[in-house]
Amino acid sequence: MPRVSRRVAAIGESPTLAVDAKAKALQVKGESVINFGAGEPDFPTPDHIVEAAVQACRDPRNHRYSPAPGLPELREAVAHKTMADSGYSVSAAQVVITNGGKQAVYEAFAALLDPGDEVIVPAPYWVTYPEAIALAGGVAVPVATTVAEGFRVTVEQLEAARTERTKVLLFVSPSNPTGAVYDRAAVEAIGRWADDHGLWVLTDEIYQHLVYGSARFHSMPVVVPSLADRTVIVHGVAKTYAMTGWRVGWLIGPPDVVKAVGNLQSHLTSNVANVSQRAALAALTGDQVSVATMRAAFDRRRRRMVELLRAVPGAEVAEPEGAFYAFPSFQGALGRTIRGRTPSTTLELAELVLDEAKVAFVPGEAFGAPGYARLAYALGDDALEEGVTRIAKLFADSA
Ligand SMILES: Cc1ncc(COP(=O)(O)O)c(C=O)c1O
Repeated sequence: MPRVSRRVAAIGESPTLAVDAKAKALQVKGESVINFGAGEPDFPTPDHIVEAAVQACRDPRNHRYSPAPGLPELREAVAHKTMADSGYSVSAAQVVITNGGKQAVYEAFAALLDPGDEVIVPAPYWVTYPEAIALAGGVAVPVATTVAEGFRVTVEQLEAARTERTKVLLFVSPSNPTGAVYDRAAVEAIGRWADDHGLWVLTDEIYQHLVYGSARFHSMPVVVPSLADRTVIVHGVAKTYAMTGWRVGWLIGPPDVVKAVGNLQSHLTSNVANVSQRAALAALTGDQVSVATMRAAFDRRRRRMVELLRAVPGAEVAEPEGAFYAFPSFQGALGRTIRGRTPSTTLELAELVLDEAKVAFVPGEAFGAPGYARLAYALGDDALEEGVTRIAKLFADSA
């Protein structure tokens, strides 16, 4: 018998966290590494949120267990904010507060999938989805999109992937890793297709507030209301409020699914840390100025990033409209000899770039998209400039 179960042994290390760890280890050794690997804002959590947490620490109410699906006031605040920001009417009873959006993703699949149920996953996809689907006994069915299509999947592609085992469509806009945002017509077309075929939709809205230019966010169950009874939303404070370390997310769904998820969570982790929940409550109900300030900084870096990447020999980049990632194709840099090495995959290229230029990015293989690279632009303007310039110089130094 294997020491580790086959189910868990099949899970790989998170490639994004692995790249981040390698870059940070080099930094500790004194190397000047530019890290495009981490998917988190570089800003500190805004002061008024931190202050609410400090006060919460001193309040003995927060030293005890609290209801597993979340503090009632925070569930209420999430319902209120969902109405205010998305125009989606839900009750507090339809919200479960989770240990980050990641736990919401896993619990949603655990609650929806029976062994062999298929989930259509547009690729490139965030690294966690296929693992969460597999752990829940489901089968991820990727549908590839390319830089030429702006990484947006069409109804025709989805229909070609549908079988009688398809239960769920995973929908993410804005997307990690591509930054692609679907317009209203596309959200409607995809939502109607899912509805017509009786599919469930898990829609990950964690980057809702990070959209730029003329792009707009649209929540699928608002655009296609008849889908609401088969829609689960994943969301959280991590990206909007620079709160990745606080671990607060949530899931919104129909009452039967929310009840099942609440039961699961009561045995899995119980309540999310009360201090973090109080901080999230301050984030959702307090001043929103810092959200706009951070978004403006990301937008500026996004535009600069695209400009710089377009000047990199062998790179092709679509302008990201949301989140904080650029996802260039580096296919033009493969098969060429750079400093005595000839990378044939972006996995090898990423290692070469880290070794030779001390720049970390996540190779596309991690997202089901070989040939591409994810560069998070949630880092300081100077570092961003320096990092892409180093890549451009290295690629120019090839034969
Ligand atoms: C698309 C997407 N969904 C969900 C999450 C989960 O975020 P967290 O667990 O930090 O709330 C992330 C984080 O990288 C993400 O990129």
